[in-house]
Amino acid sequence: MSTYVNDDRETPRFQVNRAAMVDPEVFALERDKIFNHTWLYIGHETELKKKNDYKTRSVAGRPLIFARDAKGEVKVWINSCPHRGAMLCREDKGNARFLTCFYHGWSFSTAGEMVSMPGDESYGENFERPGLAAPAMVDSYRGFVFISFDPDIVDLSTYLAGAKEYLDLVCDQSEVGMEVLEGTHEYSVKANWKLLVENSIDGYHAVSTHQRYFEMVLAARGKLDPKALGDSRGIDLGNGHAVVAGAPATEGLFGRPLSEAGAAEREARFEHFAEIYGPGWVDRMKGNRNLIIFPNLVIVDLVMGVVVRKIDPITPDYMEVTAWELAPPEEGDELRKQRLDNFLTFWGPGGLASPDDVEALETCQVGFGSSRELVWSDMSRGMNKSVCNTTDELQMRTWWRRWNELVTGEQLPSEPKSPLDATFTAPRQDRASMASPTS
Ligand code: FES
Ligand code: FE
Repeated sequence: MSTYVNDDRETPRFQVNRAAMVDPEVFALERDKIFNHTWLYIGHETELKKKNDYKTRSVAGRPLIFARDAKGEVKVWINSCPHRGAMLCREDKGNARFLTCFYHGWSFSTAGEMVSMPGDESYGENFERPGLAAPAMVDSYRGFVFISFDPDIVDLSTYLAGAKEYLDLVCDQSEVGMEVLEGTHEYSVKANWKLLVENSIDGYHAVSTHQRYFEMVLAARGKLDPKALGDSRGIDLGNGHAVVAGAPATEGLFGRPLSEAGAAEREARFEHFAEIYGPGWVDRMKGNRNLIIFPNLVIVDLVMGVVVRKIDPITPDYMEVTAWELAPPEEGDELRKQRLDNFLTFWGPGGLASPDDVEALETCQVGFGSSRELVWSDMSRGMNKSVCNTTDELQMRTWWRRWNELVTGEQLPSEPKSPLDATFTAPRQDRASMASPTS
């Protein structure tokens, strides 16, 4: 049995050792074995609208500059001056042709080349003028930009494995490309970062933790039959990625109901998409999904809004969270207004749900003060079933098995489950393949 994970297939039972949530040595191992050797999300291309736009970001403890250069290409630089270390960009965001260090004035282009250094003649001709340092790898998938500090890592597409299909279900909701909206949610949680990973794909907690939210929804709708929310599945997507996917809800959207005009626009948009992608794929789009891309990127698409959430471990018992809203730019004003209203009612520091989750996670962390006496947390739900749904814990076990593999080297086989039915597998069709030869 691994030190941190008890994957008992016989009982069956799955447990996680709470030492993994408090031990500074585990935290150091995660930095090394996970965050130095995976693809990590830095930002979305649409956050950099113009040439020379930049945002500063922190990924795995590294200060970074996420920028578009003068040619319009996305670049990522280490936000530390090659001279003696000062941060080059101290603002959250900006637009600058040159990144000039305020300490001694070395200056660089957004393409990372040195432009000037005061008193240049004191260095001599043979002195190599350094450019900006960069992470080993930068790549993107449909606007989502990832970096890796491991030059030997597999390519991003291979790494994303089955998660790509779920990113497609999000990205296909716009014909011109989904965009990150202005405004960012930033909050922190006094808890281990893995607790928020679990929470983000945990359907089991929703009704009890977010009781108040559901009371509000019930009041707005008049009725809400939980069964009418539709069928769901917990799915292992490979490489530690997992999703809980919901079929389209027969009751309509999760959240407050749309106005008539909003609902009509939404319906028309999906009808149009059905012509492009086929009805099976669009039915999947109309459902919801909570996706975890290993290790720390969460995408929650409850249809009323798409949250992109980046979870940053800071210490074993403290994390920082950044979240953005992704939306189709061509959406009408009415639908956009209702999307944002639903989004802000549920998520973020002022939402009705996120503070509940923060409270739950912080009490877990307090509970872990007794991790020597009460060693194991349980994550066994649905292990005895051949089909798992959103209130089971397959998706978390999937993530933890990958965590365990990277941290301890022990490989645990994935759980054998029944094949998924068409509701959860219908492929996207292009126009050509949809046209039958006789039509
Ligand atoms: Fe940047 Fe000296 S540290 S110019
Ligand atoms: Fe929650």
